[in-house]
Amino acid sequence: MAEDAVAAMEVDEPQQAAKLTAAVKGKGKMGVVSQQQLTGGPWVEKYRPASLADVAAHRDIIDTIDRLTGENRLPHLLLYGPPGTGKTSTILAVARKLYGSYYQNMILELNASDDRGIDVVRQQVQDFASTQSISFGPKVNVKLVILDEADAMTKEAQFSLRRIIEKYTKNTRFCLICNYVSKIIPALQSRCTRFRFPPLAAAHVTDRLRYIIQQENLDVTDSGLGAIVKLSNGDMRKALNILQSGQMASPHLTAEAVYLCTGNPMPKDIEQIAFWLLNESFSTSYQKISEMKTRKGLALFDVVRELQPFVFSIDMPPAVRIQLIDALADIEYRLAFGPNEKLQLGALLSAFTHARTTLVAAAQ
Ligand SMILES: Nc1ncnc2c1ncn2[C@@H]1O[C@H](COP(=O)(O)OP(=O)(O)OP(=O)(O)O)[C@@H](O)[C@H]1O
Ligand SMILES: [Mg+2]
Repeated sequence: MAEDAVAAMEVDEPQQAAKLTAAVKGKGKMGVVSQQQLTGGPWVEKYRPASLADVAAHRDIIDTIDRLTGENRLPHLLLYGPPGTGKTSTILAVARKLYGSYYQNMILELNASDDRGIDVVRQQVQDFASTQSISFGPKVNVKLVILDEADAMTKEAQFSLRRIIEKYTKNTRFCLICNYVSKIIPALQSRCTRFRFPPLAAAHVTDRLRYIIQQENLDVTDSGLGAIVKLSNGDMRKALNILQSGQMASPHLTAEAVYLCTGNPMPKDIEQIAFWLLNESFSTSYQKISEMKTRKGLALFDVVRELQPFVFSIDMPPAVRIQLIDALADIEYRLAFGPNEKLQLGALLSAFTHARTTLVAAAQ
């Protein structure tokens, strides 16, 4: 399958090359799927930015890359940052700008779904990089190797890439994309120009969602939009997925519908839970919280996560706050490994009961 992808690069007709390349499509790869074909598909692909101008936020990065591309001085790139911030979209837009409709022939895109051990880097990348650039289409002669999710590459593969990058610099540019830059060996980092894609600011997510709401003619209230932006936490992919699943579940999308469809606790539920934790006896709050969890289908993990900003915001002596945060962190850590939720709910109540006792003792 991987060899087919290389073969595709050598095929003259873009059509045929496209078919073959599409066969090795994985996450983040758009291949040749056109915008029209995606009308009924996931919005994350339908609304993937087609050009650099469409990429929301990261203006400094995009302008720099745009200028370098325009002047045909593209360096090797290392794009890193949390998921859904536009790294893959940016490099695909660069490829389109550089090569126009021939871009399928001029890029080799590999991601974690392809085999990327040491052999693949040696064979595939080397084969692609060492072939002459096709002279019929693009004016630009450098090819582009995109190594998406590069943090999942083995150290050996990364080491062998050092040499390959240097050897083929004349006609090939490499773009490494990853979430965790610390997993890329320093020698590779120093060969690339690094750009960090931070989580998107709420205003940018809001603007993009507004545009899609208008395009799709959706009925979303302001509070519904606010809830999506809050839950997405700067991850545009997550925002689009919530919007799409939310509007399928409820055509009139309110904040409540968003929280319900994503199974997240509403802010007012968290307030209520915090009230019980701070005022009711151990057994009463255990029973009430359990009942609410079952009725609304809440996960304790989400409750604990949402309680944390609450604990920061209410007034209490620093020593008590520290104790509580520490306990919440422990519970969240344990919950990540899937233990008994009932026991962890007990631990949550214990932490708050302990905090209350300390507060009462301090007041006396
Ligand atoms: N800056 C952005 N502007 C507009 N749309 C964006 C942006 N970032 C992400 N998106 C949307 O989210 C989808 C996923 O983005 P993309 O694949 O570029 O993320 P990524 O940064 O590569 O994430 P990952 O690290 O998970 O691979 C895109 O198809 C697009 O619809
Ligand atoms: Mg990506």
